[in-house]
Amino acid sequence: MHLFQHKNGELYAENVPVKKLVQEFGTPLYIYSYNTLLRHFKAYDEAFDAFPHIICFALKANSNKAILNLFSRNGGGADVVSGGELFRALKAGIRPEKIVYAGVGKTEQEIKSALKSKILMFNVESEDELKEINRVAGEIKTKAPIALRINPDIDPETHPYISTGLKQHKFGIPIEDALEHYRLANSLKNIKVIGIHKHIGSQLTKISPFVDALKRILLLVEELTKQGINIDYLDIGGGLGITYRDETPPDPKQLAKNILPLLKGRKLTLIMEPGRSIAGNAGILVTKTLYLKKGQGKEFVIVDAGMNDLMRPSLYGAYHHIQPVVKSRRGKIVADVVGPICESGDFLAKDREITMIYKGEYLAVMSAGAYGFTMSSNYNSRPGIAEVMVKGREYSLIRKRGTYNDLIRGEILPEFM
Ligand code: LLP
Repeated sequence: MHLFQHKNGELYAENVPVKKLVQEFGTPLYIYSYNTLLRHFKAYDEAFDAFPHIICFALKANSNKAILNLFSRNGGGADVVSGGELFRALKAGIRPEKIVYAGVGKTEQEIKSALKSKILMFNVESEDELKEINRVAGEIKTKAPIALRINPDIDPETHPYISTGLKQHKFGIPIEDALEHYRLANSLKNIKVIGIHKHIGSQLTKISPFVDALKRILLLVEELTKQGINIDYLDIGGGLGITYRDETPPDPKQLAKNILPLLKGRKLTLIMEPGRSIAGNAGILVTKTLYLKKGQGKEFVIVDAGMNDLMRPSLYGAYHHIQPVVKSRRGKIVADVVGPICESGDFLAKDREITMIYKGEYLAVMSAGAYGFTMSSNYNSRPGIAEVMVKGREYSLIRKRGTYNDLIRGEILPEFM
């Protein structure tokens, strides 16, 4: 459930008309619902109440400071994958002891700053990285707390671009090699083994891959304990799907119901790294219709948001529901909703049946709160778009619209020219 609903034919973000927001802040505009974000965060927190846990929101889904701060105020942590994300998490008030750091290509600089910040743990993805973390930790005379990211070879049954837990993927350490890697980790002077990590993919709509992967990981935990390697933190990653169209993914409660029995009696702290399932349906992208165009056997609705603002349709062929901000009784048309970018792949929807829309009217692209702004770019020299947060009747700009000057910031004319 989210709080973007039509009332008397007009779309509201919580108790604020979307039209009012676009009139004040312009388009394209990302709008987030505070109470939806909070509700989704709490759905996890409450579902896992019976077991020690930390909800480490995955910054890659949405890293706006205001959104991160909302989670941190409610006890949330962060899953980061770069020095930039670590910086953001800390700036937003997330406590370092609730930050986990994943990613296959951590640099020396990034490792150093994470160590100095005293994060909870590194989710290590290879032997090489493990040795590098050991070396860097030695250099600054500290011990690095780590988990190994284990690839359990489970098919998450999702889009191939966002599935990560199979043998052929670049992520994690193959489960067959896990013991050997843990022994190595345990022998390294500047490494302290504290956890185990897995993440098998995103937009999962079934519960069984979570359960199957967890069972494999728990067998490994038992084996490690036998060998005297103690695991305190079990990080099960993120991945719960959301409804974009008609998917019926499990909710945190169902996830808890299926996995908590497997954890009963174990002395562990559970870490989860949800991104999409918290932020996805808590945000929309509002865009203005610029032109209508009749092609050969095809209609185009040309809007002011492009693939640079929301990349998911172009990149994954992802479906985002699109609806008029103000409903009308007009007939339906089948059209491609396209942006102003000079690429054939620049579309928000293809062959979509939508209510007839006119120039100057607004469309809401739904489920855009996760992997929307974070994946956006300045392609075609389009400034970053503004973001607004709504809470009840209140609202606030949480990111200013970019300017043309922002576009050229940092660019240098060489002296030899
Ligand atoms: N933890 C790790 C280690 C991850 O790699 C990811 C997502 C998450 C947590 C959060 O997963 P979530 O709960 O959001 O499913 N850009 C794609 C999604 C890429 C996901 C990458 N990893 C999209 O727009 O669908």
